[in-house]
Amino acid sequence: MTEQSAVLNLPNNQTFQIPIIEPVAGKPCLDIRKLGSQTQHFTYDSGFLSTASCRSTITFIDGEQGELWYRGYPIEQLAEKCNFLEVAYLLKNGELPNAQQKSEFENIVVHHSLIHEQLIKFYQGFRRDAHPMAVMTGVVGALSAFYHDVMDFRTQQDRDTSYVRLLGKMPTIIALAYKYSIGMPFMYPDNELSYSGNFLRMMFSNPCEEFKLNPVIERALDIIFILHADHEQNASTSTVRLAGSSGANPFACIAAGIACLWGPAHGGANEACLKMLEEIGDIKNIPHYIKRAKDKDDNFKLMGFGHRVYKNFDPRAKLMKKVCHQVLQELNLQDDPLFKLAMELEKIALEDDYFVSKQLYPNVDFYSGIVQKAIGIPTKMFTCVFALARTAGWLAQWEEMITDPEYKIGRPRQIYVGHQKRDVPDLLQR
Ligand code: SDX
Repeated sequence: MTEQSAVLNLPNNQTFQIPIIEPVAGKPCLDIRKLGSQTQHFTYDSGFLSTASCRSTITFIDGEQGELWYRGYPIEQLAEKCNFLEVAYLLKNGELPNAQQKSEFENIVVHHSLIHEQLIKFYQGFRRDAHPMAVMTGVVGALSAFYHDVMDFRTQQDRDTSYVRLLGKMPTIIALAYKYSIGMPFMYPDNELSYSGNFLRMMFSNPCEEFKLNPVIERALDIIFILHADHEQNASTSTVRLAGSSGANPFACIAAGIACLWGPAHGGANEACLKMLEEIGDIKNIPHYIKRAKDKDDNFKLMGFGHRVYKNFDPRAKLMKKVCHQVLQELNLQDDPLFKLAMELEKIALEDDYFVSKQLYPNVDFYSGIVQKAIGIPTKMFTCVFALARTAGWLAQWEEMITDPEYKIGRPRQIYVGHQKRDVPDLLQR
């Protein structure tokens, strides 16, 4: 098919032919890489509303249709037929593992769940009431101080070693942050358990009694990990890519991603959403909060609603609602007032013209807080769980970036609106 192009007519009678890149799926892109050098003009796109930062084969989101694919597989089918480590394997390698590959991959990841004993001492430096995302940002970044032996990321071997170390250790790092915050003894991983089962045991067991794993909760958490595993070029993934584009090591890049994910507009929305539901408290208060969300002079937003890409239901929100229902049923919490409140809030918002006209639907964070609270995960830890799962996607995106033949350091330009050049006045003249 002949390549399409667009013509840009510039004021000084200059024209610029812009090739149009046709994707496998999604919107065509104007290739403006040569615009600056050939026309001395830049483009401006604060917040990257209309700008693609890379070519990627990993994840596709159709915001209008409300679809999400990992390597072409719809999220609904992956959530039904796979476990999280199979999905992590898929994101990294591009294909789902066969039975032998699945067993080998699970075995190697689970056998990297221990952290260096000196790293455990690292936690002593934090206040017990430190936010666990602050602890994670610090501890994950500190991992790069322990692995000088694998820092040549041009080699597949060093990339793979760092990958399994980060994926294997995330559950341990997070569980230890929780145990430290409540003054309980740290539980070492049990490599006989599944990835999700190991995390639940490290979070909720103690040395004084046998831990009984609930398979329904174990599977629910695994699905929650799958739903959060990747989401193309969101803010934290773009942070990981930009950090990695300078050649920074993956431990530092993932720490940067964790820091970005923490924000309430991004991964911190699940914690903010649960706090919002607790603040609303009763169904009768919903109209007041809907009114606040619509008030331009009030910076209150309905947390867990809206999305830069989805202008339809976030498919993950639908799946999360199903998981939430299953967990509440299993724990005999089906009358959970917060779940009922969330469902009523969703119903009222989706019938309100403001939300309909702005195409604001529940996103992945709307129900995830309710189900995590029911499982016993403290509100402050919700975004840590998000970061645990997104580590699989961040690492796959980081590896795609550093192995991309087009790879170069990311360095956006700007529109300078400051002072013209001027002379520095002497101190007595200022
Ligand atoms: C995640 O990008 C990803 O893929 C992220 C993520 C992932 O998996 O990585 O999906 C995870 O971050 C999900 C989003 C979690 N955040 C929240 O739930 C916080 C609440 N949502 C909003 O802050 C907002 O919707 C964003 C940040 C998610 C999206 O913001 P945009 O795309 O910049 O859109 P916007 O803020 O410009 O909103 C457009 C309009 C505005 O009104 P107008 O100025 O046009 O009049 O919609 C309004 C906004 O005020 N609006 C809301 C709203 N979200 C947007 N109004 C009330 N409540 C909301 N939640």
